Amino acid sequence: MLNGKSIVLGVTGSIAAYKAIDIASKLTQLEARVDVVLSKEAKQFVTPLTFNAVTGRAVFSDMFDATIKQDITHVSLAETADVIVIAPITANTIAKLANGIADDIICSTVLASKSSIILAPAMNVNMFDNSITQENLCRLKNRGFIIVGPEYGRLASGIEGKGRLSSSTEIIGTICQVLAKEGDLRNKTVIVTAGATQESIDPIRYITNHSTGKMGYALAEAARDRGAKVKLITAPTSLEKIVGIETESVINGEEMYKAVKESVSSADVLIMAAAVSDYRVDNISNEKIKKENGILHLDLFPSIDILLNINGNFIKVGFAAESNNLIENAKKKMKEKKLKIIVANDITSKDSGFGSDNNRVIIISKNGKIDELPLMSKRKVADEILNKVVIALSE
Ligand SMILES: Cc1cc2nc3c(=O)[nH]c(=O)nc-3n(C[C@H](O)[C@H](O)[C@H](O)COP(=O)(O)O)c2cc1C
Repeated sequence: MLNGKSIVLGVTGSIAAYKAIDIASKLTQLEARVDVVLSKEAKQFVTPLTFNAVTGRAVFSDMFDATIKQDITHVSLAETADVIVIAPITANTIAKLANGIADDIICSTVLASKSSIILAPAMNVNMFDNSITQENLCRLKNRGFIIVGPEYGRLASGIEGKGRLSSSTEIIGTICQVLAKEGDLRNKTVIVTAGATQESIDPIRYITNHSTGKMGYALAEAARDRGAKVKLITAPTSLEKIVGIETESVINGEEMYKAVKESVSSADVLIMAAAVSDYRVDNISNEKIKKENGILHLDLFPSIDILLNINGNFIKVGFAAESNNLIENAKKKMKEKKLKIIVANDITSKDSGFGSDNNRVIIISKNGKIDELPLMSKRKVADEILNKVVIALSE
């Protein structure tokens, strides 16, 4: 996702500095090139050695260190960075940046850079609420700095308040969003559905299916990372909310139909990855159905077919979860539902499909092209599908 991107991670003297180790590690695992720059005070909390170990790269702290190679000065870091993120940033460094002070390596790097700059403050609630800090943040925001957090919660001093560093997920999600500005789906609106709908039987029981929503969520995240404005319409899942996209939660097929219908008017792409129940219970009981009533008969009525009934001036992508005659059935569905692209997967396969982090799919495009992909992560499958979407958008 962040393959080859150059990220400068500034860390300042906050009690939350240890959380920057997790950020550095995760960014490195996502294949970014992470150059960590520590303020002098940050080294009271965390060591350069730790960051060096997780990033595999030199860590900078002293602007006047004569041993630093000529090609990695504060100015060259500023020039090569795709994005600079300071997490955590103290009230002190916020004040210095707001006033153009460049008396340490972090502030000089920021001042010398033309790239996007993300600041994630962490401090005591009173320091954060102080009008001086607020004015400084406001000045930075007006100058185009992106501020993430802080969050409300328990602070190091033991009291509750706004001042906690945002989560690694939130900070990395913001980095991805910033880097996506030049992506091949910029200026496009993509609607993605995900999850397994629930059709009530009575107040405590429902009919659902094994879909976990992972494929739909991977698609939403991948579209965000390619610059799209994404709306995710999700049936219940246990997945974490994705940073930087609009999410609407629904429960049943009827709600999903309404949400999709209301959202598609401005869409360029609709990707229906949700597993919507084909049937709904006609006579939902208002009270819990008792066991002593003996054999229970449920009248199941076909639910509204969202894929078939929602059409418009957008690229419509559907999924075909099949257990036999994969390509044949997928082609039939593609024709019936007027799809530009259909993604077929064999749900009987043990190493892919429902619940798995991987998927093995066949992508069929309107022009008849059939791409049989090997087993790969759902995120990689998502990018393969979006490659086809980009082609379809250009046709
Ligand atoms: C134990 C301890 C924890 C601190 N935590 C924070 C903090 O979370 N946020 C903050 O703005 N300052 C915090 N400070 C104060 C900063 O370390 C101090 O303002 C320092 O000058 C910041 O330098 P820097 O911005 O160059 O890293 C803390 C100080 C101590 C002693």
